[in-house]
Amino acid sequence: MKVLVTGGTGFIGSHTCVELLEKGHDVVIIDNLVNSSPKVVDRIRAITGRDVTFYKEDVRNRKALDEIFEKHDIGCAIHFAGLKAVGESVRMPLEYYDNNLNSTITLCETMRDHNCKNIIFSSSATVYDSANKVPLKETDLTGNCTNPYGWTKYMSEQIMRDTAFADEEWSVTLLRYFNPIGAHPSGLIGEDPRGIPNNLMPYISQVAVGRLDHLNVFGNDYDTPDGTGVRDYIHVVDLAAGHVAAIDYMEDHKGENVFNLGTGIGYSVLDMVHSFERVNNIKIPYEIAPRRAGDLATTYSSPQKSAEVLGWKAKYNLDDMCRDSWNWQSKNPMGYDTE
Ligand code: NAD
Ligand code: UFG
Repeated sequence: MKVLVTGGTGFIGSHTCVELLEKGHDVVIIDNLVNSSPKVVDRIRAITGRDVTFYKEDVRNRKALDEIFEKHDIGCAIHFAGLKAVGESVRMPLEYYDNNLNSTITLCETMRDHNCKNIIFSSSATVYDSANKVPLKETDLTGNCTNPYGWTKYMSEQIMRDTAFADEEWSVTLLRYFNPIGAHPSGLIGEDPRGIPNNLMPYISQVAVGRLDHLNVFGNDYDTPDGTGVRDYIHVVDLAAGHVAAIDYMEDHKGENVFNLGTGIGYSVLDMVHSFERVNNIKIPYEIAPRRAGDLATTYSSPQKSAEVLGWKAKYNLDDMCRDSWNWQSKNPMGYDTE
């Protein structure tokens, strides 16, 4: 199938392109490079030995999308494109609502008009209401988001849910990611945040490579085994494979389908530090800092539905994630700007 991958040069998008190409799908990427490097396209080609078509365009540009759909016989779109920094979304809500909602609406309108009604959407564990008990299940309550970024995911889900309800030809798959980390084992693609990382693993990796001095552990007085926050970290290659499984499922299932993509296992911040240190034989200096506003003590998924319905399960463990994160960072100390 020819798959349109919006945000395909980003962290998760690039790994998914590799997985799609390796499974025999053709890939067309659209990305405006607001948070990624054009070098990614050649790295995807180098890993897979296959070509991909790349358009440097904004997904909100209807004319550009029309041209892509006229030129290519797109069977399905995977919609990764979006802004994703929680703190930035609090400071710049209008930019987040504009980018994340208008890209979703423009893409769905264009797809409908070109009679391509299969979409997979990058949603997030952040859509779950904090009152739910772990493990989080797809049927649990959503909403009560704590920041504009989370609301854009919640609202995008609703836009696509309503679209599927109104027209039974649509197949809408909402994938709720937990915490993707790691990198392709080749070390050619990985996570390359701009500025100081917001997320734990890129921060640890940049401490390891000497770009940052020490890790701040945000709180050690949570109600968790060691007092630090617990999350469901998932290897990005496993996450990418989840998208291929979702395409296979979509081929004969219409309507709206929601799946968690996580491992179902929670690790604390200190578990992450210790695993990274042991696997890579590098010391990670850290200091205990105050809690970060908006953080929950514990989140992890129930991966049961994805296993039963999609036949997908994460294969990589925490040591694999720590090894591959470091393999990427050590080979590319300044990310895609290295060399
Ligand atoms: P990323 O920033 O690396 O990738 C997103 C890509 O989208 C970037 O390459 C960026 O340039 C592009 N983009 C943004 N707005 C665009 C627009 N209007 N037009 C064209 N391209 C645009 O982020 P990622 O970690 O790969 O995340 C991919 C998706 O998964 C995002 O939608 C994100 O919200 C979602 N998600 C990520 C996480 C995570 O922890 N990384 C967790 C849950 C959900
Ligand atoms: N943490 C630190 N120090 C840091 C960074 C993070 O101690 O420098 C801690 C956090 O307090 C938290 C854990 O590490 O306990 C994980 O934090 P991340 O920022 O890596 O991940 P979050 O779970 O907070 O959020 C991420 C994405 C969201 C997404 C969510 C999905 O940033 O966009 O996963 O579960 F919605």
